[in-house]
Amino acid sequence: MAQRRLRLGMVGGGRGAFIGAVHRIASRIDDRWELVAGALSSDPERARASAEDLNIAPDRAYSDFREMARAEAARADGIDAVSIVTPNHMHAEPAIAFLEAGIHVICDKPLAATPEQARRIAEAVNGAKARFILTHNYTGYPLIRQAREMIERGELGEIRLVQAEYAQDWLTESVEKGDNKQAAWRTNPEMAGAGALGDIGTHAFNLLSFVTGLRCESLLADLQSFGAGRQVDDNGHVLLRFGGGARGMLWASQVAPGNENGLRLRVYGTKAGIEWHQENPNVMTFAPLGEPKRIVTRGGAGLGGGAGRWTRIPPGHPEGYLEGFATIYTDAADLIGGVGDGALLPNIDSGLEGMWFIEACQRSSGAGGTWVAR
Ligand SMILES: NC(=O)c1ccc[n+]([C@@H]2O[C@H](COP(=O)([O-])OP(=O)(O)OC[C@H]3O[C@@H](n4cnc5c(N)ncnc54)[C@H](O)[C@@H]3O)[C@@H](O)[C@H]2O)c1
Repeated sequence: MAQRRLRLGMVGGGRGAFIGAVHRIASRIDDRWELVAGALSSDPERARASAEDLNIAPDRAYSDFREMARAEAARADGIDAVSIVTPNHMHAEPAIAFLEAGIHVICDKPLAATPEQARRIAEAVNGAKARFILTHNYTGYPLIRQAREMIERGELGEIRLVQAEYAQDWLTESVEKGDNKQAAWRTNPEMAGAGALGDIGTHAFNLLSFVTGLRCESLLADLQSFGAGRQVDDNGHVLLRFGGGARGMLWASQVAPGNENGLRLRVYGTKAGIEWHQENPNVMTFAPLGEPKRIVTRGGAGLGGGAGRWTRIPPGHPEGYLEGFATIYTDAADLIGGVGDGALLPNIDSGLEGMWFIEACQRSSGAGGTWVAR
């Protein structure tokens, strides 16, 4: 355990923003972080007002993230890490500024809006002493980590099939034409880089790799934009081939009515299969071949004996999105505090994998649905 709470800064996440507030709650759950500085909005007045809402001292409420990086690096009590919760095209500049200032970076996904921006972040990470963590937060769910351990131990046998999907419905109609600002930048190709594929497909792709340890070697994608006049994909079907011969499918959609945050993973090996659904994350189905299916809960030492290490309250009391996110923050605090090796934390490599996935899908679909290899 670190001797003190780590000091956190935030770029983005001001009034009216979505994920910044989730990061703030998640960072506090295990009492390891305190928010002390921010450049919370691209609009200076909103940045100031948002900082006031959060009790950030006026001299640490910045209107510009570059000024924040310089000023915080110069303070004896400067921030240990910064959370970057801006739209995708605005990850690279702040990430590089803080890494160059020697400040750890906790950045939301996808890594960037373009491969060029991603490459520049990776260069900065390689040249920095500071750490870079990417919040593929679903890797923080206890049963996801348990599933990974079970597969590592060979409880599923040799993995043959992986089915991953992340389906939502909130872009079924062209809400970006109204005043939904989250929809507006997500459907702007310059700001988002990709549509459903980048926004949620990268989560599914990251999750399947995290759980199975498989590396996708080639893929074939069929991307679609159903929204009238929409310039980014809002639905994608992808076939995946993995090293070692396993096969997979990934579906990402934001136009599937009835789906809220339908992230689902199914993995089948020669000995058993597992199934997990984000909307009911405290249970997982484990089906050994030829035996009755078992429901594995989050808390029981049970099969893997793993999930209990990442839970906070007794089984049967639901934990979910915020707690999974908190585990990323707590692991990050450990890593920064010199405890553990951060092996379970998504990092720059996870981000670059996501960027490969997006680029390969766009290339495949653009060519009419051809196989694209590494
Ligand atoms: N991990 C997850 O589950 C998850 C969920 C939602 C969003 N995200 C990611 O988080 C990021 C933000 O998404 P969101 O939905 O919160 O967006 P949002 O539009 O709600 O918020 C973006 C914020 O960034 C601010 N901003 C923009 N440019 C800035 C600048 N130069 N300096 C300071 N602030 C600036 C805006 O003013 C706003 O406060 C995206 O990369 C998105 O992909 C991740």
